Amino acid sequence: MATEPAAADPTPTLHRDTQLAMYRRALQHLPGGTDSNFRAWGESTIYVDRGKGALVWDIDGNEYVDLRMGYGPAILGHADDRVDDYVNERMRKGVSFSLTSEDEVRTIELICELTGWVEQARMTVSGTEATMHAMRVARAYTGRDKIVKFEGQYHGVHDYALISVGPDDVSELGDPDAPVALTWGRGIPSAVADTIIPARYNRIENLRRLFEQRGEEIAAVIVEPVLGNAQGIMPQAGFHEAMRALTSEFGVLLIFDEVKTGFRLARGGAAEFFGITPDLATFAKALERSNSDERMRYFARVLPPPQRTAAFLEQEYRRIRYFPLLNLINTGHVSSPFYLLTEPAVNSH
Ligand SMILES: Cc1ncc(COP(=O)(O)O)c(C=O)c1O
Repeated sequence: MATEPAAADPTPTLHRDTQLAMYRRALQHLPGGTDSNFRAWGESTIYVDRGKGALVWDIDGNEYVDLRMGYGPAILGHADDRVDDYVNERMRKGVSFSLTSEDEVRTIELICELTGWVEQARMTVSGTEATMHAMRVARAYTGRDKIVKFEGQYHGVHDYALISVGPDDVSELGDPDAPVALTWGRGIPSAVADTIIPARYNRIENLRRLFEQRGEEIAAVIVEPVLGNAQGIMPQAGFHEAMRALTSEFGVLLIFDEVKTGFRLARGGAAEFFGITPDLATFAKALERSNSDERMRYFARVLPPPQRTAAFLEQEYRRIRYFPLLNLINTGHVSSPFYLLTEPAVNSH
């Protein structure tokens, strides 16, 4: 007699008591009970205890398969021993010297080797600072003030990046040819906001018209080569190639924000994947190794000679953390998987 299949496991009950108490406690001193709006989920806010591999556990002991992996970077899974052993050993030697280490030099060498096009790079504390510096370098190099930024793209939380990230209402977006510059939140000076020209992604003809009208003012275009902050939106075929040609034609620098695509989309990041050599690139969490929250952020840049200048700082203890992952990728122990889990949607808007 055939046996009945076991009944499917019902949705497991989440235990929330400890987290709810933590949430109420945290609310006293942390706005929203957390350090980031992206993790502020009211009474459902998760307070993590630990992670290993693909799993994380919260402080109530609930176990999860982690599909966000630190927003993408933790390709080795959490608490990878190969990385952590190295980091722990280096930590014990002391890390905060205000001096340079070989880890730092080797890491930049690896960035150059893996991308194949980066000539020089410096490190910052966060992806936010990386994109901020890249924009500044572009302005300094070209002597122009404006940066073109695509609607819906996220480049961190400095004032220049928080323009046209997400509208409250799509009716606010304005004309595709001249989208409205929408500041995200209050407190961004209009003088700063005015230096950012929003443009519609995947509309190369709009970009050409913009360059024809205002190209003399534009220092750079910054782009997430694949939108990692909106599910995973691929560019339309030929968009990056056309943008590369257009920016070169108008003397505008092209900044690839590879904070999420770097060392993921391909070994050499989106630049390799699309066969494009940008003028500057920013890398950050994708250079991260395996642990959940201690994300490393970097900035790498290249400018055409002779202006090879740029100087960015990073917190010292962090520099030891990215070397191990890059090294694993470089030695073929880790490949660079296409990290987007969902079928990439094509943005036709
Ligand atoms: C494409 C992109 N650029 C910049 C940033 C900002 O990086 P950070 O959070 O390290 O400041 C992010 C963060 O998710 C990002 O996805």
